[in-house]
Amino acid sequence: MASSDTFGLEAYNEELKRAVRFAHEFLDASARGEPIWLSLLGNGGAGKTHLAMALYQRFRPKMVKSRDGNSASGFREKLQKKQKFNWAYITQKIRDRDYGIVSYICDDVDFAVIDDLGAGYDSEITKAKASEIAERRIGKPTIWTSNLDLERIAERIDARVASRLLRHGSKVVVFEETQDWSVLQFRKESA
Ligand SMILES: Nc1ncnc2c1ncn2[C@@H]1O[C@H](COP(=O)(O)OP(=O)(O)OP(=O)(O)O)[C@@H](O)[C@H]1O
Ligand SMILES: [Mg+2]
Repeated sequence: MASSDTFGLEAYNEELKRAVRFAHEFLDASARGEPIWLSLLGNGGAGKTHLAMALYQRFRPKMVKSRDGNSASGFREKLQKKQKFNWAYITQKIRDRDYGIVSYICDDVDFAVIDDLGAGYDSEITKAKASEIAERRIGKPTIWTSNLDLERIAERIDARVASRLLRHGSKVVVFEETQDWSVLQFRKESA
C-alpha cells in the first residue's frame, strides 16, 4: 500500500499524519493475524469517524480474501452483520436492558467500530458494559472514537477502559490541535 494513501484525509498536520500511519499499522497487524486496536480521540470534526469508516471499507475485502477457500461457510453471512455501532445506540439498548447487543459486539463481530464513546449520559451499568466490551474484544480488531481524551475516559467511563486502549500494541491518537475540518473549510471559503 502506497505511503501516500491517506484514506481520503488531507493529512496536513502531525496528528493527522500519525493517525494515518497508525491506520496502516492497524491494517497490517490484522493482515498478519495479530490484530490491534486503534483509538481516535479528541476534537470534534477532526476526521475520526471518517478514518474509522475508511478502515471499515478496507477491512471487509481483506477478511473475505483471507478466509476464502478454507472456511467460507458462514463467514460471508457474518460480514453482512452490522459492525459499526454508535455508543449512544449501545447505551440506549443497555438502558432498555437489551444486553444482547453487548455479547453481539463482543462475540459476533469480526471488526468493530465503536463510535463516539462517552457521547451522552453514561449510567453505572453502561460504564460497566463499556468495560466488559473492552475486556472481551481484546485481540479482535476494534476502532474506538471519542471526543473524550484518555483522562476523561478514565474519569467518566472507567479507568480500565482507558488503560485497555493502550495495551497489546494498540494505537491511540488524541486530536488536540486539529480543528474541525468543516469549520476550516468554511473559514477558507469566506476569507
Ligand atoms: N483532514 C481531513 N481531510 C478531508 N476531510 C476531512 C478531514 N477531516 C475531516 N474531514 C471531513 O469532515 C467531516 C467531519 O469528519 P468526521 O465526522 O470524521 O469528524 P469526527 O472527528 O468524527 O467528529 P465528531 O467528534 O464530531 O464525531 C467528514 O465529512 C470528513 O470526511
Ligand atoms: Mg465522529
